[in-house]
Amino acid sequence: MGKQVSENGIKVNDAALRTLVKAALEVRENSYSPYSNYKVGAALLAASGKIYAGANFENASFGAGTCAERAALGAALSAGERRFAAICVAGADGSITPCGICRQALCEFGDMDVYCVGADDPSEVKKYKLSRLLPASFGPDRLN
Ligand code: THU
Repeated sequence: MGKQVSENGIKVNDAALRTLVKAALEVRENSYSPYSNYKVGAALLAASGKIYAGANFENASFGAGTCAERAALGAALSAGERRFAAICVAGADGSITPCGICRQALCEFGDMDVYCVGADDPSEVKKYKLSRLLPASFGPDRLN
């Protein structure tokens, strides 16, 4: 994966990235998705170096479900984190990318790196810049 700095300037090294990918794949196993059977896991790497994980959880009242990315974001924010280097999203295969609502939720916290991985081939990790997934975004700067 190589040594790198995330798009928002926070350093991410190879070991941190491997740990992040592993966390996303592991938490995916806890997905509660009996309606879609579409398991997703997400792991957020905060500037503190800590990782916060979340899985999607569905509900018999469909609209009450939440995506993995926002589950992870909720855990991180609730722990007091506000700056993030990267998020890794894990699906069944490498075609996973965050949904539009999650792109918006994440963009509140800067232009982090978004890594996407499939459980079928954990060695293949795609990297996106959040601003490429959500161009011309509406962020907190618009309200200042
Ligand atoms: N899902 C996520 O958790 N993250 C995404 O980025 C895409 C969709 C979940 C929501 C729902 O539980 C299931 O996947 C099918 O849409």
